[in-house]
Amino acid sequence: MKTSLCNGWEFTPVWSEDFLHFRGDAQAVRLPHNVQPLPLHYIDHKSYQTVCGYRKAFPIPAEYAGKRLFLQFDGAGHIATVFVNGEKAGAHRTGYTAFRVEITDFVTSGETAQIAVMLDTTENPATPPFGFVIDYLTYGGLYREVWLDVREDAFIEDIFVTTKGNVASASMVFQNATHCRVSILDAGGNCVVQKEAQHHVDLSVKNAHPWSNTDPYRYTLRCELLKDGRVVDTQEVLFGFRTIEFKTDGFYLNGKKTFLRGLNRHQCFPYMGYAAPESLQREDARILKEELGCVAVRTSHYPQSQYFIDECDKLGLLVFTEIPGWQHIGNESWQDQAVENVKEMVLQYRNHPSIVVWGVRINESGDNDGFYARTNAACRALDGSRPTSGVRCIDKSSLLEDIYARNDFSHVGTNPGVRKKKHITPDMNRPYMVTEHTGHMFPTKSFDNWERRQEHALRHARVQDASAASGESGGCFGWCMFDYATHQDFGSGDRTCYHGVLDSFRNPKLAAYVYASQQEETPVLELGSPMDIGDYNGGLVGDAYIFSNADSVALYRDGEYVTRFASKTTGGLPHYPILMDDTIGDLLETREGFSKKKASDLRKCLNAVSKYALDALPLRHKLRLAWCMLRYKMNFQEGVRLYGKYIANWGGTATVWRLDGEKNGKVVSSITRTPSTRLHLEVKASSTCLQEKDSYDMAAVRIRILDENGCAAPYAQLPVSLKLEGEAELAGPQVVTAEGGMCGTYIRTTEKPGTARLTVSTEQTAPITVEFTIL
Ligand code: GAL
Repeated sequence: MKTSLCNGWEFTPVWSEDFLHFRGDAQAVRLPHNVQPLPLHYIDHKSYQTVCGYRKAFPIPAEYAGKRLFLQFDGAGHIATVFVNGEKAGAHRTGYTAFRVEITDFVTSGETAQIAVMLDTTENPATPPFGFVIDYLTYGGLYREVWLDVREDAFIEDIFVTTKGNVASASMVFQNATHCRVSILDAGGNCVVQKEAQHHVDLSVKNAHPWSNTDPYRYTLRCELLKDGRVVDTQEVLFGFRTIEFKTDGFYLNGKKTFLRGLNRHQCFPYMGYAAPESLQREDARILKEELGCVAVRTSHYPQSQYFIDECDKLGLLVFTEIPGWQHIGNESWQDQAVENVKEMVLQYRNHPSIVVWGVRINESGDNDGFYARTNAACRALDGSRPTSGVRCIDKSSLLEDIYARNDFSHVGTNPGVRKKKHITPDMNRPYMVTEHTGHMFPTKSFDNWERRQEHALRHARVQDASAASGESGGCFGWCMFDYATHQDFGSGDRTCYHGVLDSFRNPKLAAYVYASQQEETPVLELGSPMDIGDYNGGLVGDAYIFSNADSVALYRDGEYVTRFASKTTGGLPHYPILMDDTIGDLLETREGFSKKKASDLRKCLNAVSKYALDALPLRHKLRLAWCMLRYKMNFQEGVRLYGKYIANWGGTATVWRLDGEKNGKVVSSITRTPSTRLHLEVKASSTCLQEKDSYDMAAVRIRILDENGCAAPYAQLPVSLKLEGEAELAGPQVVTAEGGMCGTYIRTTEKPGTARLTVSTEQTAPITVEFTIL
């Protein structure tokens, strides 16, 4: 029986003997816990590095006599020593995998147990990922959950389920028993097959419902340990029937070619570092799958919360996970630890159907055959059902893995999106995939100008498109899901890597729409230009791109139909951004009454002037313009009039542009662009019903300032006040700045049920109040 030990801890930023022996006062904390609250920008990476302490006293009931007691730490960043009643009971290095400490012999039933954890949160080179520079902050603390697991003397230590066709094979490890009963339950909880077994059993399920990214159906394998005819332990594992195969032409899920279009995810959050509870972990998976339409995620650069991965299983988001590390390979004992990390990663995560690749190399490290032969062997010994890979930043390096994975940062805007596999891998017969792109090559803030944000989006589109179209890559993962805090040698001056398609609060930048518009379920329509001439050099709006999954998009100017655009099929992305290169369309016919031919000739001229400016017109356009003026007997004034009316948009009232996304002949989405004066708030809470379960619960609140047409208002960089009343607290400041018109906050429960009200306000918008129920 596993019970949460997340509440009622005491914390000291500086470990001491007194703290170990429960002397003196300390700060009351709950887990998950970060060493200290952090600012959004300019985080000092030294501020959370310390040797700190956590302690907790709790009763061991008399009925635990004769049972086996384990503490389970899901994530302790980064070197933990666990003491029970003053004695060392266990230790663990590397903060990204769980560990268990048996405390049976350290406690007495009927008495109180005193647990203390000495935690080194420094960048201690003794353990991965440390020893050199790292492009992300590693935070620290008991930042995931802690459990007390009470078992009988005989218990189930491990279960591993693999599937082949309709057959599920379970391997089980027991202590002090040899027999068990294994059942498979369908998603409705009905037992579909049952067998008695020893340490291995094959169970065949008639017409097994496969698990896939589009239909993530899970079964439960229940194992009941039998001793003297009695069930002494029961453990359950959720699993899925699915086959995976990486071939040279791509990745196949259940025999169906499935391109792993995805993003890299770090596990940090504003203010709280890594210390985010279950609901926020799950929310990130939901955002990736449902909002960003991703097929896959790479957990760069370490194994992430079981809740996050469980949500990936549940939603059908495929996962590339990997061992902790960043470019650096340390000495022998560091390498031993990395091999240990491979084992822990595989043992702890191998039942998740969503995981399709194990990354067994240190991200972007150099070759080290001896070391990587060990990581590959350790991985394969524990799981023969998935391929190994490892992410490189070098070409043709020693390939000990099943798949060559490389970060391809070659695209600079004008060249092809990706490089050819033959220039990268040493073995064309082995599968290949692109594990990062764009990132530092084009850092883009939510408050950068439109042109940059559009180019950022287009770069993501070009690389994803080229990789998918190449037919030689199993997947392509953009760098990265959201902006993250980093060390002084990376990122912008505030130590933030503005590499996300989302900002740190998970608000969308334009690039998010490249991903979002690839899914079919929800209509997506966004325009990469405000259409305001003052936003562009010389007033030239130039090429504007539409990001949409509509079949076609109709453009209207001041309510009048202009023209229609459709996505070009590239064989790569299902919905490549649509170039909107004509804002005149039919208007010269409908408004000016020009003949079809004249309208078409002049439209070409005007669109060219709009793109290049009159002075810089390429020769062919100059010639066409001259020819038109002669042919249609137009003088300069007439040209200026048409330009002023159809391109420059000055004088009179502002132009209202409307785009209607159409699917199967019906309008399914619409946006309107016009200069705005009236702003309003959009406040989206990840949940308005919070529940204290194993620990505190949180809601992520995303806030955007929108104009009267519901478009993002990036210039509304306003102070935003956050007032929280009731039985919850704000994790973060009470006044934040809308950056590029967007910001956010987090609400945390405080062990008390009731209600809470968050009021979000600015001086230029009506306030919005969100009510939360706290169970
Ligand atoms: C890669 C690295 C990532 C991140 C990215 C930024 O080289 O693997 O962790 O630093 O660059 O673009």
